[in-house]
Amino acid sequence: MDFDRQIKKHIHAQQHQFFMITPIGFENVAKEELSTLEIESVVDVGGVEFSGKLEDVYKAIIFSRVATRFLMRVKNFKSDSLGLFFKQIASINWEYYLKNNSTVFFHVTARTSKLYHQRMLEEKFRDALDEYSQKNSMNLNFASQDDSEDLKNGVTIYLRLENDRATVSIDLSGAPNFKRGYRKFISDAPIRENLVSALLLNFWKDREKPFLDLMCGSGTFTLEALSIIKKIPAGVGRDFSLMNLSHYKEAMFKHILKKGEEEILELTNKNFFLSDIVEKHVIGAKRNLATLGERGVKTSVSDFFDFKPKYSEKGFLVLNPPYGKRIQEEPIFYKELYKKLNLDFSGWDLLILLPEEERININFKTKNRVTFENGGIPIQAISGVII
Ligand SMILES: C[S@@+](CC[C@H](N)C(=O)[O-])C[C@H]1O[C@@H](n2cnc3c(N)ncnc32)[C@H](O)[C@@H]1O
Repeated sequence: MDFDRQIKKHIHAQQHQFFMITPIGFENVAKEELSTLEIESVVDVGGVEFSGKLEDVYKAIIFSRVATRFLMRVKNFKSDSLGLFFKQIASINWEYYLKNNSTVFFHVTARTSKLYHQRMLEEKFRDALDEYSQKNSMNLNFASQDDSEDLKNGVTIYLRLENDRATVSIDLSGAPNFKRGYRKFISDAPIRENLVSALLLNFWKDREKPFLDLMCGSGTFTLEALSIIKKIPAGVGRDFSLMNLSHYKEAMFKHILKKGEEEILELTNKNFFLSDIVEKHVIGAKRNLATLGERGVKTSVSDFFDFKPKYSEKGFLVLNPPYGKRIQEEPIFYKELYKKLNLDFSGWDLLILLPEEERININFKTKNRVTFENGGIPIQAISGVII
């Protein structure tokens, strides 16, 4: 059987297991997001597992706003000795995944297992792949994670050992999924796009009402909100590692993406507004909006404390105020913030990000709270209606 037919039979025609890594605490948002794509999944810690054909994972990777990374499961086996481990790795049909001359990276984690030495496992993995490639006249290059240039064209193999079982997976994403194709300018304290989308999908319900992003930084909240409301596929304008694999179905991937792009909507909500006190942030955010192709957002360089909403209806206010040591040493900042919100934003829906230990003092009708980490800082996101 020729190689194309083998790939069709063993990969394209088969169902596979996939794992979508998500920020911890947002697994259920991810499950819901996948179910809108008609993909059923099972929630695990830090992600969701699902089975499907390549077409399904292409859909997920193109449309998921919450994903951090996608892995394709290759093999799961008992592995309590190096000899067994070597044999199992060498028995995988690697040419169904890796193209000739691929650059291979490894991501190894091991715990509660007899084989726990990560460097040794990686070396054994390389040896097994080496032997396999020589037998099958393949050439593979091995690289370290620092070779980020190669990472663009390479493939990362994930190995996880837990309770003496090994799981081998192939990374389909490359650069994490929160790296959108549009984003160019980044402010001092950016927040990951997939976290922002997860928060918005969870807490932003009345999407035709005014949307205010008044400490916008690089504008991540507005950019993600626009992408949600206009149905801009998250994977537009960027590459993924799956494109470097031997089973990549280019025509199918491009077809799904094109269909998604054809369904992008015009912006009907004319009340999107972003501002920041720092001019260069607003300039950057405007540039980012332009790369997204959106000119219907009003912008301004202004101090939040001077802003008074002048809209015929109450809307949605998102605030991601500065956090970190300096601000925490100035509790007056938050006091003033709560005072301003209670005074001028009664009736507005609010989504606000604060350090985890901060006690919020706003009059809320309904209140939701989630905690997570951003850039190593424990954060809480609180949403509700200000009364
Ligand atoms: C944590 S950053 C926001 C990061 C943003 N979400 C992003 O992803 O780039 C906080 C922002 O609040 C802005 N800021 C601080 N005090 C402000 C004020 N009084 N009025 C308006 N913006 C303010 C800062 O300039 C900064 O851009």
